[in-house]
Amino acid sequence: MAQKNSSPWVDYVIFGLTVFLIFCLIFESFIDLPGLVAWLGRWHPLILHFPIVLLLMSAALGLFNRMVPKLLLTVATISALVTAITGFFLGNEAVPKGSLLLWHQWMGAGVAILAVLWYWVSTNHLQQTYLVKGIQVVLIILVGFTGHYGGMITHGEDFLALPKSKKLEKIPEDPLIYEHIVYRILDNNCIGCHNPNKKKGELLMTDISELVQGGESGPALVLGDPGKSELIRRLHLPVEDEEHMPPDGKKPLSENEIQILERWIAMGASDTLKLSHLDSNEPLAGMVKKMMDSGTKNSWSKLPKVADSTLQNLASDYVTIKRVASNSQALGISVYLPPEYDPKNITDLKRIANNIVELDLSGIPIGEKEMEFVAMCKNLEWLEVDRTPIKDAEFAKLSGLVHLRVLKAYETGIGDESVAVLKDLKNLNSLYVWETQLSDSGLSQLMEAVPNLYIDHGIDPELKTDFIEKDTIVDSIQ
Ligand code: HEC
Repeated sequence: MAQKNSSPWVDYVIFGLTVFLIFCLIFESFIDLPGLVAWLGRWHPLILHFPIVLLLMSAALGLFNRMVPKLLLTVATISALVTAITGFFLGNEAVPKGSLLLWHQWMGAGVAILAVLWYWVSTNHLQQTYLVKGIQVVLIILVGFTGHYGGMITHGEDFLALPKSKKLEKIPEDPLIYEHIVYRILDNNCIGCHNPNKKKGELLMTDISELVQGGESGPALVLGDPGKSELIRRLHLPVEDEEHMPPDGKKPLSENEIQILERWIAMGASDTLKLSHLDSNEPLAGMVKKMMDSGTKNSWSKLPKVADSTLQNLASDYVTIKRVASNSQALGISVYLPPEYDPKNITDLKRIANNIVELDLSGIPIGEKEMEFVAMCKNLEWLEVDRTPIKDAEFAKLSGLVHLRVLKAYETGIGDESVAVLKDLKNLNSLYVWETQLSDSGLSQLMEAVPNLYIDHGIDPELKTDFIEKDTIVDSIQ
């Protein structure tokens, strides 16, 4: 199908890149990449379009029994290798890797290696049509899946989110009591410490059966009997009690939330029960409605309309825009760092500022201009400006954002001057500020002014060694 290549250096390049890719995959946990390489990784979202188009074209030509031009296959193969390698560089910044990212990485490497195999077969005049056709079919499928997983990653599922769950998603009109209400309460308050990666007290909470099975001290949940359920007992303990959950001064559950859990257990802890199944005089119905009303859905109904086409125009490889709930005008935006950063990447979003309720600018070298844009997003509820160079002067721009509920500003240059700004954010309930210049006295002033605020400023250095020892002991037992 193709002629022997006249310039052997192309073969060497492909061979070298293949060896390098395989080396990266095998030794990835030992590799500590220098900054330049991390920068190369940022080209991945641009470069990846080439192998998708070129490989699909080559495979389609082959499958229709057309001659696949040697040059096309060569460029497709090299671009697949470069994409896989830059993707590896980009993914290396994400620790720990979520399962989506791992799948995407291995499938992407599979695409590149298959392309190399095809290239090799065709340069060596091996006319094994079935082998080549097989490679083409698998390539088409694999390119599709790799792209799909990559898309899920950039849309924020599982990718370095901390804490993981987005708390802003809307509760449906007729919620399932377990899935949409109970699980949401547990996810927001408990699952961070009781999940397969971090199984405190040997207790998992991601499933009803796990709650029934319980942990070190037996079942956490006894169907129909909240009085015998360890989980409920711990919620009712005084906050100072060591066994109170959640521990360590984390924000306790509201009375309404505790009652919802209690009543749901008393009614048999079903996972199929819906709000509409409940009698109107059943107390659980009232509590659930109260929780739904305290959500944000009412304020979102007043947001101006934005057309899908506007969103498509403003989105790019480095800016993802999604509706927080389908049909909603509330938008969530994540910005990734392009190789050549320009503040316009962010300030161009001005047109839709009023609709933005979630904004993720983590790790972007933002300055005054970008913070002025953030200040225009009056309806913002969730903001991530962690790992950015902002200091108190830029942070001061946030003072009008009264709807902010979650703010991540860790690893920034903000200090005690920002406490005054924070004090005015009356709706703030979670603040992440480790590795900043904020002093302990500044933070305690803040805690007095906004009593329900949960502040994560990292682990107290005194407690740190204690924690590490405990974790290593637990790990060595497992
Ligand atoms: C900051 C981490 C953290 C959070 C958040 C947290 N827990 Fe725990 N939980 C622990 C630790 C550590 C233990 C084990 C020590 C103990 O028994 O007090 C534990 C133990 C438990 C146990 C007893 C398990 C057993 O069988 O011994 C229950 C029940 C429990 N947690 C429920 C909850 C609930 C309900 C929430 C949410 C409202 C919650 N936890 C949130 C850290 C956490």
